[in-house]
Amino acid sequence: MSNSQLRIVIPGGSGQMGQLLARHFHEQGHRVSVLTRGPSTAPWETVYWDGETIGDWTDTLEGADVCINLTGRTVNCRGTKKNREQMYNSRIRSTELLGDVISQLSEPPRLWMNASTATIYQHSYDQPMDELTGIIGETPDKPFMWHFSVQLAQDWEKAVYKTPTPRTRKILLRTSLLFGPHPGSVFAVMLGLVRARLGGHVGNGRQYVSWIHENDYARAVEFLIEHEELDGPINLAAPEPLTNRDFMRAFRTAWGRGLPVNGLPTPTPLLELGALFLRTESELVLKSRRVVPTRLLDAGYKFEYSDWPTAVNDLVRQWRAAEH
Ligand SMILES: NC(=O)c1ccc[n+]([C@@H]2O[C@H](COP(=O)([O-])OP(=O)(O)OC[C@H]3O[C@@H](n4cnc5c(N)ncnc54)[C@H](OP(=O)(O)O)[C@@H]3O)[C@@H](O)[C@H]2O)c1
Repeated sequence: MSNSQLRIVIPGGSGQMGQLLARHFHEQGHRVSVLTRGPSTAPWETVYWDGETIGDWTDTLEGADVCINLTGRTVNCRGTKKNREQMYNSRIRSTELLGDVISQLSEPPRLWMNASTATIYQHSYDQPMDELTGIIGETPDKPFMWHFSVQLAQDWEKAVYKTPTPRTRKILLRTSLLFGPHPGSVFAVMLGLVRARLGGHVGNGRQYVSWIHENDYARAVEFLIEHEELDGPINLAAPEPLTNRDFMRAFRTAWGRGLPVNGLPTPTPLLELGALFLRTESELVLKSRRVVPTRLLDAGYKFEYSDWPTAVNDLVRQWRAAEH
């Protein structure tokens, strides 16, 4: 796609990733529209939709260049039946709805990217998971929520292909944990633990963490827009995942300020208790996600942040500069 002004529509674009992409493309002079259940004042257009039914919002997609669907109730919650239904329905229904609408437009977007997740791959300590050889699914001995997350991811991806959209290229964004230096982010939560001297490894510390710096997330999405030969699943993860133990050590070193080299570790039983207290699920930190971005690298994408120590140093520097 050429670099002239693009019309980019982002359903579910009011959250962490959506705001990042909206700002990135808006600053480049592209025309951005966010579809949201709560339109508000923003430097870009925000348009009402409910993520479930057809409405006036479909006009926004007519003649657009790119649709990037990020809709989904947060997975950072307890896996109760009600929460599971909301996690599932918000993703599958909105994706199927977009497929129906895009298939009926007279001038559909040339590219539809849909959020997916690096969680789709099996828990793995030794085998790196890429788009070509990675194992989709979970081993039978894992807890129920691990299977639920993988099943949801698979159904989410299937929903993108449910309705044929022959004039629209489709990309599945299998994204790892996104790190940006903002209040309320995963980075901020982890930094809070590190500063409280609780930032040791979690569980046995051998599980891999797949991560991506927010600059690379936005630049990689831009790269995917430009590279029309790419479609299907794309892993959005830095090329160097590392164990939770090394990940937390680099985090503590980056923060510095006289912190002891060893943070207080969180053993699995304590983590389960903490997760219950924080209304979340331990799977988010105990599952080993060893996901690598083979297709992006093969296509020539150059990561700004390949290794975690450099990335976390930058995040800490930005956090301090913003004086949060
Ligand atoms: N952040 C990560 O590290 C990460 C990693 C892998 C995958 N992902 C996936 O990428 C997507 C975007 O992530 P994010 O971090 O930007 O998430 P987020 O901050 O939670 O934003 C998701 C957006 O979805 C919309 N939404 C939530 N519940 C909804 C519902 N029931 N019906 C319709 N819309 C609903 C919300 O928009 P309104 O309230 O404005 O309507 C919200 O702004 C998510 O689907 C997430 O699962 C994220």
